[in-house]
Amino acid sequence: MDVGGTSIKAAVVGEDGVFLSKRLEMPTPHPATPRAVGRVLRAVVGDFGANERVGIALPAPIVNSTVLSPPNIDAEWIGMDGESFLEGMLGCPVSLINDADAAGLAEAQMGAARGIDGLVLLLTLGTGIGSALLHDGHLIPNTELGMTPFRGGDNMEHYAAPSVMTRDGIAEREWAERFNEVIALLELLLHPDLIIVSGSITARWSDLAHFVQGQVPVVPAQFRGDAGIIGASIAARPGGQTSLVHSKGSSAP
Ligand code: BGC
Repeated sequence: MDVGGTSIKAAVVGEDGVFLSKRLEMPTPHPATPRAVGRVLRAVVGDFGANERVGIALPAPIVNSTVLSPPNIDAEWIGMDGESFLEGMLGCPVSLINDADAAGLAEAQMGAARGIDGLVLLLTLGTGIGSALLHDGHLIPNTELGMTPFRGGDNMEHYAAPSVMTRDGIAEREWAERFNEVIALLELLLHPDLIIVSGSITARWSDLAHFVQGQVPVVPAQFRGDAGIIGASIAARPGGQTSLVHSKGSSAP
């Protein structure tokens, strides 16, 4: 399950990333308090008849199961043990992961970052801007690059998330120019070998791709807007957490 600022997406996912169920998508409740989101997730679990471990991607950094600073969902999440809380509500074991990190895991294991050495930067673009950094296929979790201060007091997410097209009434071309500024700064700071874009923006990537330009290739995620769902399922599999060593505090892989 992938909880976004705008919608919650879910599916039963096979080991190869193929969906074994219908794909569900429903609006994120507002306010998106832990209890309100938990109720939607509980209904999904009931719908799928799931009683084994479920993976849930949240738009917030997750360190040792604790949810930190979520600007796009409700502040009640901050500081809570998200896994214990959702396990209590859902009645099954839960693995929580940041949504961009989930997309990064999916793309590293089965998608556009598979077999790519060096540094891959994945940006998930929707209500916000999330980031995942992969080095030689290993995830460095909870990077939150969308929070980078940008243009005198703003941050990258407020300036260039796709949601600003509606908020500021700007066209795709103007949005892409903003996004190109974001790419230029991240390239200057990180020197990635490849940039992957996932999230809801990928549904209109064919219209946008020619406006977007980096020094390195900027490609859509193989799993497009489903990378978060697939990555959440990877995090829930036995051994799936080994890619999350830093957030789980265990030893290196
Ligand atoms: C959150 C990130 C998340 C991103 C995309 C941001 O507001 O801080 O954790 O990855 O939105 O959903």
